[in-house]
Amino acid sequence: MADLVTRLPKVEMHVHIEGTLEPEMMVTLAARNGITLPHRSVDDLRAAYRFTNLQSFLDLYYQGASVLLTARDFEDLMYAYLRRAAADGVRHSEIFFDPQTHTGRGIGFEVFMAGFAGGQARAQAEFGITSALILCFLRHLPESAAMETFDAAEPFLDRIIAVGLDSSEVGHPPSGYARVFERARQAGLHLVAHAGEEGPPQFVWEALDVLGVDRIDHGVRAEEDMALVTRLVDDGVPLTMCPVSNVRLKVFPRIEDHNLKRLLEFGVRVTVNSDDPAYFGGYVGDNYQAVRSGLGLTPLELVDLARNSVEASFLDPARKKGLVAELAAVPLV
Ligand code: ADE
Ligand code: ZN
Repeated sequence: MADLVTRLPKVEMHVHIEGTLEPEMMVTLAARNGITLPHRSVDDLRAAYRFTNLQSFLDLYYQGASVLLTARDFEDLMYAYLRRAAADGVRHSEIFFDPQTHTGRGIGFEVFMAGFAGGQARAQAEFGITSALILCFLRHLPESAAMETFDAAEPFLDRIIAVGLDSSEVGHPPSGYARVFERARQAGLHLVAHAGEEGPPQFVWEALDVLGVDRIDHGVRAEEDMALVTRLVDDGVPLTMCPVSNVRLKVFPRIEDHNLKRLLEFGVRVTVNSDDPAYFGGYVGDNYQAVRSGLGLTPLELVDLARNSVEASFLDPARKKGLVAELAAVPLV
């Protein structure tokens, strides 16, 4: 019988599609598209994946995304991620994409949106996994660029469930994106934002109070401010945590030092996710296993995490109810 972590029905809510580009696919797409990468082989790429902080990772992540050119490339990427996620017991995934990384290279929404749709449809037909897209604005670029991106996204909004905010956090507070988030809210989208990954608790407050987000992506530094932890608990604000990412980007020295279990015990609605699995060497199942062994989580705590993932998702109430019922029926041994 498969391991408990695999058998638990789960939702993933924090995965960047560009961060699922495995070195093997990167090398294949570079050859297919006639692009020369600074790191030419799979081994060279993997050897370069030693990060000192978020920015050292982002530099390689944006470089890697340069091999994605055609709708077929985006379809292959989406399909490969969803196949792996389904194998980990993920039933539904809410997937970030960074349009500005592509429009900045002259690749339009019509190209990557067509590719994503093809990969999403094939994966659903073959593996039963459903998925939704979250458009992320790059916070190292100004809000005016985010506004232009939202203009370009307008014809595709029926296929986008939420907007988010990612990229270099330090020096780029959420409050700088209040107007574009308000526009997204008025268009009926859900709102999320990366906050408190490397940035201070103040950025989590701003994401909640100025942007009005439904979930906080990461949020590990919220623990530095107990009034903020109380707010997260009282309002049931989900945190989409990514423990393996946090260790690889030196937010915590070791998985044993991660605060996921403490926040869970405080009553925060914690979830487990993969972030950029091709760069950090761990899909969502690996992240559950890492906290299970590193933090000594019990089977019941793993069930709590999976239930939180269903409840924190943007799925409709009937689908949530069905997944929670399936979860309750999973034998724990
Ligand atoms: N883009 C991709 N992964 C990210 C992360 N962990 N934080 C901020 N931006 C990102
Ligand atoms: Zn992220």
